[in-house]
Amino acid sequence: MARFRFLIFGLSSTALVLLGASSLPAAAPRVIKITGTDNMQYDVKTIEAKPGEKLKVVLTAISTMSKEQMAHNFVLLAKGTNADMFVMEASMAKDKGYIPDSGKKSILAMTGLAGKGETVEVTFDAPKEPGEYLYLCTFPGHYLAGMKGKLIVK
Ligand code: CO
Repeated sequence: MARFRFLIFGLSSTALVLLGASSLPAAAPRVIKITGTDNMQYDVKTIEAKPGEKLKVVLTAISTMSKEQMAHNFVLLAKGTNADMFVMEASMAKDKGYIPDSGKKSILAMTGLAGKGETVEVTFDAPKEPGEYLYLCTFPGHYLAGMKGKLIVK
């Protein structure tokens, strides 16, 4: 009986080692779920992360309006970006999903646009440099209405 138990123990140890090697990737992102509403707000306004941490932002739009009238995205900007300028240029880039070519160099991560009931997502590494990074929605008027938040890397 004792020998039998030892055998079981040995097998489960091997199974655990295999699991650790193949089924638990070290790079699995931490998922952050955000909802965007017709009030032009994110329900998550602060995200804390470790430098370089892998994150997956999943954004869902809750709306009674059409996508033409109301949609949301998640756009994370590099430090030092002029956000007012960025969103002004974005508002004129309707045919590019409100992402201006001129501002692309300032984007650290972004989703597409989510309309009523839709979900969009993006997986990215948090910046390595500690500090605060602005994220916002580029749908016209939304940033100015307060659709923004902070990624705090520390
Ligand atoms: Co929005």
